[in-house]
Formats: sequence, C-alpha cells, structure tokens
Amino acid sequence: MLLLNASGCLDAVAAPDVARSLDVFVTKTVTRLPRDGNAPLRIAETDAGMLNAIGLANPGIDRFVDTVLPKLRELDVPLWVSVGGFAADDYTELCEILDDSSAVDAIELNVSCPNVDEAPDSAAEIVRAARAATRKPLYAKLSPAVPEIAEVGRAAEAAGADGLSLVNTVRGLAVDERTLRPKLARATGGYSGPALKPIALAAVYACYAATQIPIVAMGGVASGRDALEFVAVGAAHVALGTVLFADPRAPERVRSELAAELAAYALASVDEARGIAHEGHSTLVGHAERVHSSIA
Ligand SMILES: Cc1cc2nc3c(=O)[nH]c(=O)nc-3n(C[C@H](O)[C@H](O)[C@H](O)COP(=O)(O)O)c2cc1C
Repeated sequence: MLLLNASGCLDAVAAPDVARSLDVFVTKTVTRLPRDGNAPLRIAETDAGMLNAIGLANPGIDRFVDTVLPKLRELDVPLWVSVGGFAADDYTELCEILDDSSAVDAIELNVSCPNVDEAPDSAAEIVRAARAATRKPLYAKLSPAVPEIAEVGRAAEAAGADGLSLVNTVRGLAVDERTLRPKLARATGGYSGPALKPIALAAVYACYAATQIPIVAMGGVASGRDALEFVAVGAAHVALGTVLFADPRAPERVRSELAAELAAYALASVDEARGIAHEGHSTLVGHAERVHSSIA
C-alpha cells in the first residue's frame, strides 16, 4: 500500500520533509494556462470539515514544467502530476507534454473539481483522450456527487484508466455567523475532511466491486484506523488530504497506527485486509476478528 498526499493539500517545495515522508507526492492540479483561481475568501472551516474554493490556482503547464518540476524532481520522491481542464482536448495536450518527462511517474486526471464553472467533458471521454496521448499510468479522480459512481468507474476503466482516485470534494456552503451571508466569496466550495469519510467509503466500496483497477482512497483519512477501513472496502492505496494542514506529521503517525490496527486484527499485512468488507460477516469472524480491544 502506498501512502500519498491528496492533490492540493501539500506544497512539496515549501515542505519537502513532509513530501519525503510519503511514498508518492501528488501535485496540485495543473491546467494548460495559468489560473489565479477564485477571489478570496477561498477557505472556511466548518463543524466537521473544511470548505475550499481555490479554483485550480496554478502556474499553467509550461511554467510548471520549466520551474516547478525540476524542484520536485530534486525531492527524489515518486511523482504523480494532477492535470485538469475544461474539455478532453486540454487533457490530451497536458498528457502529451508530461509524457516527455522522465520525472513524472503517473498522471492523475482531475475530472471532478467542484470549484470551476465550466462543465467538463465526461470522465470516460477525458480518459480516452488522455490514454491516446501518453503511456504513463493514468488515474481518474472522480467526484462522489454522481448518482452511480460505480458506472463512472467502470466507464473510466473501459476507456483505459490504470486506476481510480476516490474521491474529490463535494460541494458545500458555510454561512457567516455575523452577516448570514456565505463565508466564501464564491458562496460554495469543496467540502473535505472527516464528514467526507462515509461518502468516500461508499464510493470505494462500489468501485472495488465494479472494477479490476487499483483504487487510491481519500476523504477524511486522519488515522491508521481510517486507512484500514478504506483498505477493507477495497483501497489499494490511501491518500492524506485535509489532515495535512493540521498535522504535517500525519504520514508517519498513520503508518504506525495502521501497523497497530493490523496487529490488533491478527492480519499479517495490508494485503490480507484488502476487500475484507466485501466478504460478509461470516468470513470476517474467525479470519480477522479483532483479537483484542485495547486500541482506540
Ligand atoms: C485546499 C484544497 C485544495 C485542493 N485542491 C485540489 C486539486 O487541485 N486537485 C484535486 O484533484 N483535488 C484537490 N483537492 C481535493 C483533495 O485532493 C481530496 O480529494 C479531498 O480533499 C478529500 O480528501 P480529504 O478529506 O482527506 O481532504 C483539494 C482539497 C483541498 C482541501
């Protein structure tokens, strides 16, 4: 199991040690042209998570390749680049450019940002366009805000995705206590953190059953226990997002908590835990029943 950061939740140039504590660093989404993103206020805290409306602020692919990529290469951590756009053609161009770079290990296709106005082409169309443009591994990052995410996952797999990243944020709004107006300048933003976990667990569960490709799970992961639950519903890998803003040492902590969780269930490895939620209660009892209850 690889431990990654979720796109947009870690600046590896500013915090290289945190990036090095991960198995893979995933960049913030890069678009073809530079974007300033949305007007402030772009981040708001809520009771059970965080709202962000950054709006894909990034330097654009040309400056990213010329100035950011060389710095990321120096970190010596496997690198996935997240790309985003507004039509399948944008992804073709981005993937062609990244295909030339040996520093890039995989490409994550952000087909699910809730903070931009333009309606993108369908996930499958985008994956198909990207597949034709690169031989690098492609991960399709999906939104859980669809009626049937398993169908989107299946369509992305059929279009050539090598893996799925689940999930992106869901749209939310916070009201300012004093003014009763939306806290964010854009009114709505992407909701992330603990409240997203059950939604993300359901998405991973559904896509694991519907596809054969590895799933990178994210959405409210803050502990080794959370990571184990995502593995149990089918995640191959786990990514840390919002938790990194509060706890930059979360990668080490989550790893050691996960090891303790596995030991508590007498599971020899993460592989033994993978997908166990799909096997039904009778299989669980006797196979990985919690051996003791001394860990919280
Ligand atoms: C401040 C912020 C910026 C984000 N930027 C991106 C982004 O550029 N591209 C993307 O695919 N997801 C982005 N996300 C979504 C995260 O990668 C992740 O899917 C989501 O936050 C759920 O995980 P979490 O609950 O652990 O944060 C962003 C999230 C936050 C909080």
